[in-house]
Amino acid sequence: MKKKKYLAAGAFLCAVSGLLCACGNTRPDLHSRIQVGVACYNQSDTFISELTDCFKEQLGLLENQGMTATVILKDAAGSQRTQDDQVKELIDEGCNVLCVNLVDRTDPSEIIDLARDHEVPIIFFNREPVAEDLMQWSGLYYVGADAEQSGVMQGELAADVIKADSRIDKDGDGKIQYVVLEGEAGHQDAIIRTEKVADTLKSQGIQLEKLSYGVANWNRAQAENRMTQMIGQHQNRIELVLANNDDMALGAIDAYTKLNITQSTFPVFFGIDGTEEGLKAVVDSKMAGTVYNDKEGQAEAMAKLAAALVSGEGMDEIPFEDEKFIYLPYEKITKDNAESFLDGRQEMTDGRKTQ
Ligand code: BGC
Repeated sequence: MKKKKYLAAGAFLCAVSGLLCACGNTRPDLHSRIQVGVACYNQSDTFISELTDCFKEQLGLLENQGMTATVILKDAAGSQRTQDDQVKELIDEGCNVLCVNLVDRTDPSEIIDLARDHEVPIIFFNREPVAEDLMQWSGLYYVGADAEQSGVMQGELAADVIKADSRIDKDGDGKIQYVVLEGEAGHQDAIIRTEKVADTLKSQGIQLEKLSYGVANWNRAQAENRMTQMIGQHQNRIELVLANNDDMALGAIDAYTKLNITQSTFPVFFGIDGTEEGLKAVVDSKMAGTVYNDKEGQAEAMAKLAAALVSGEGMDEIPFEDEKFIYLPYEKITKDNAESFLDGRQEMTDGRKTQ
């Protein structure tokens, strides 16, 4: 439903650019010259780096529609103070719209004040500020996905796999002993995914016993460390690994592989994101499933909103929730459809390029 409305908005924007061309106005004017400043919390994060690549592609497509788009990307490498300075630089360098992936989602005040003083709108993405902060000024928006949906889908995927294969309950005690690998403390996706995946498994009738958890900050190497410690503590009792993202699920698999544990005794692993590596792990049956975090959709929404904010055209056609939020739906991925996501997303990206 959300997607349909979104497509309608996309069609409207195409129509706007079509009109510009029809009038012979292909020369970029002030409003069609989009200079986007992108501030990322950490460019070494796999999902963020894949998302920003998609975003650059989407901005390229706007050029085909009679607008010129340039992008300046800054990496805060995990420091909010660095990001505050980088946002100032982006404004000084002439950006007329900002896309901000906050380091600390609870601390956007300095960035908001800067943007408001210079009247440069901000599209926050992926790391959701609290609603009160977004209400501070009319030029603030958010593009992301509904964290609860990803947790529920991961729980449903895991429940299906557990119900279909009694060998997953290795000790046959009728309960699934599990561990969780969590993203950063305080990140909306880490908190909500962790809670909802367990709630969903329970509501599907799966008896659970949580053995342990490790905070691995979305990071593959940290997850490998945490998993190695948990294997040390619980040995072969672990039957299920629920990771808040694919990189951490892959780190957990790395731990088992490096410890030379017999593959037939591995637990089942679930991630979230559908990164390239994550999808390949599902295709290869290393990961039992993942949940697609629609980076192409999010990138497209950000590019179209940026264009509308700068041109002043088409804002009323964008499918906001509460006038400020755009959420793209997640999708479940198993071995049955993983390959098509690898191929299909590529085709979709290529298709969008040639539109
Ligand atoms: C993704 C993670 C990513 C995080 C960064 C989450 O939505 O699932 O892979 O590390 O965002 O903020």
